[in-house]
Amino acid sequence: MSAILPPSERLWWKHPLDRVEGTWIVIALIWCLIMFFMMISWHIYGKQNLSTETYKTTREMYSAKAQAVVDKYTVRQEKYGDKEYPVVHPPEGGDVYLIGRLWDWWPIIELEKDKTYRLHLTSMDYNHGFSLQPTNINIQVVPGYEHVVKVTPNQSGTFSIVCNEYCGIGHHTMLGRIYVK
Ligand code: CUA
Repeated sequence: MSAILPPSERLWWKHPLDRVEGTWIVIALIWCLIMFFMMISWHIYGKQNLSTETYKTTREMYSAKAQAVVDKYTVRQEKYGDKEYPVVHPPEGGDVYLIGRLWDWWPIIELEKDKTYRLHLTSMDYNHGFSLQPTNINIQVVPGYEHVVKVTPNQSGTFSIVCNEYCGIGHHTMLGRIYVK
């Protein structure tokens, strides 16, 4: 058969399947299945992809909740960059709210090692990326949605939050801070 001429038999699905072709289809299918089950097992055993609960919210609703927690649990003020931030120390098992916006993460959060908290995240404007350094935790922060992550810090220290979703001219200055005592 020539590659230039049209095929004499136009109904391709009536052609018998070549053995090599069949082998490749089987290999591809098996690989797809491996990849599919990897996603599930990595989620459970990989200890990297966090399960987040996500709810619809509005800026007003979220800000009100965040402000209430900040008012109740601020332990001190701290200068970070050229701004003052409240340092919020929530009780064990408590909810703590973080706001991503152009161009910072507000407020500073202080947690205790080996205690569990519910960390809420949202954005006030555009998409931001919550990237916790030096650990490898990344969460998309989408405006209009409240993401809730259960966190149990197992290491004490000072952690930085950097934005890993390009969000404009000040993207590289969008930093935040979490203390673990
Ligand atoms: Cu926020 Cu980049």
